[in-house]
Amino acid sequence: VGAPELAARLAELVGPVNVLVDDDVRTGFDRDWTGTWQGRSLAVVRPGTTEEVAAVVRCCAEAGVAVVPQGGNTGLVGGAVPSGGSVLLSTTRLRRLDPVDPVSSQVTVGAGVSIAQLHAHAGEAGLAYGVDWGARDSATVGGSVATNAGGLRVLRYGDTRAQLRGLEWVTASGQVVTRLDGLVKDNTGPFLPALLAGSEGTLGVITAARLQLVPQLPERVTALVAVDGIAEAVQVVARVRASTPSLEAAELVLRDGIDLVTGHLGLGLPFDRVPEAAVLLECADRHDPTEDLATALAGCPEVLDAAVATEPGPAAALWRLREAHTEVLASLGPPLKLDVSVAPDRLAPFTADLLAALAERVPASRPVLFGHIGDGNVHVNVLGVDPLDHDVAGLVLGVVARHRGSISAEHGIGRAKREWLHLTRSPAEIELLRAIKAALDPKGLLNPGVLFPG
Ligand code: FAD
Ligand code: MLT
Ligand code: ZN
Repeated sequence: VGAPELAARLAELVGPVNVLVDDDVRTGFDRDWTGTWQGRSLAVVRPGTTEEVAAVVRCCAEAGVAVVPQGGNTGLVGGAVPSGGSVLLSTTRLRRLDPVDPVSSQVTVGAGVSIAQLHAHAGEAGLAYGVDWGARDSATVGGSVATNAGGLRVLRYGDTRAQLRGLEWVTASGQVVTRLDGLVKDNTGPFLPALLAGSEGTLGVITAARLQLVPQLPERVTALVAVDGIAEAVQVVARVRASTPSLEAAELVLRDGIDLVTGHLGLGLPFDRVPEAAVLLECADRHDPTEDLATALAGCPEVLDAAVATEPGPAAALWRLREAHTEVLASLGPPLKLDVSVAPDRLAPFTADLLAALAERVPASRPVLFGHIGDGNVHVNVLGVDPLDHDVAGLVLGVVARHRGSISAEHGIGRAKREWLHLTRSPAEIELLRAIKAALDPKGLLNPGVLFPG
């Protein structure tokens, strides 16, 4: 069928206002957050219920047209950007928001609910959601499951997969699979929702998720700690972590990034001089954790200086220095964005090798490193090169592989890193991944060109 006929069929399923075909309207959906990836969909379709999602997927399957699921379009690896000739299925109208179950501390929410809405909803029930990151206002629950989002609290609560108690999704053939009971114990074979976590829209369209919530911890302290370098930062995190169970975030910023962010946003720095590195630590508990954190930091000879905030305003100012890295870098670039992890004890030798390799082989490059140091996760942003420079990406990911790290810690593979999957996954694993894809999507109609090597 031609595009107009398909659009007309889709309009019958979801209503004409929910099928967008105008070039101008589709532009925002067809391009990614960074502006690096640009696609062209046949149409954008916005189903409002699980049944409508299933009908859309069936309709596209019958027409032999690929479907690209998209949530908040905040992904950083081009995974929600449509390949030519596909239908972009936007999940933002899937807004189910069930009441929080106070007995299990779980909740079922629609795929299109934003992470900020989920936080607010959990908060109204006196609970919290353990996963959080800078794109919370736009990123959706469905996207977070599909990418297995990590973020700022993984060291305490784990990633999105760790919160997943159930899922509802639509298969490639348009069948609805519902497993939303949230049973904590259920060993009737493999837990299929886990297969969808990190599948990036290639194995099914997620319509709702059952998520574990955590207690709300009212007392909070945030500290920005100056140190001499990454090795010292790793030591501080290890010491604080070992003695302070209330630790919930440990983030790293480095001199270049601090200079950029403070310069561009006109932010002040609570230190006399800009340190080589700084660690942002946050503890949360039922009782004020300030004393615990102070005691832990007093036991760290690596600490050069520390700024401590116990009130939300000053704490937000410290967080701004870290969270604003992404937007400031985007405004200068976009940079070549990579997101890698190594074992924490390899962070210092890895970054030293990486910076030396870039300085020697790509002298024009300007690397800015930051990230979730508590998880061994470094966001490698390279300014001064093309954001899609293949050789520079290969160079960085080669250093990661030599340090036995992962080429994607939390953003996923998407279109951006497909060809390097073999650096992280063995041939046997890639064969299994292909077999799973072939079994669940035999016609290759779900997000083709994403995740799986071509
Ligand atoms: P989209 O970008 O719309 O899609 C991402 C992928 O998921 C695509 O492959 C898409 O096809 C698929 N997908 C989306 N919805 C569904 C669905 N319902 N069913 C099946 N597949 C689906 N990520 C982190 O992990 N940690 C961070 O700290 C972090 N910080 C960020 C900060 C900023 C400022 C920005 C812009 C992004 C950040 N991200 C971070 C990346 C991004 O927010 C996450 O990857 C997020 O989970 C994407 O959710 P989304 O709804 O925007 O998904
Ligand atoms: C972050 O932690 O800020 C992000 O994952 C976004 C980025 O890498 O820019
Ligand atoms: Zn991150």
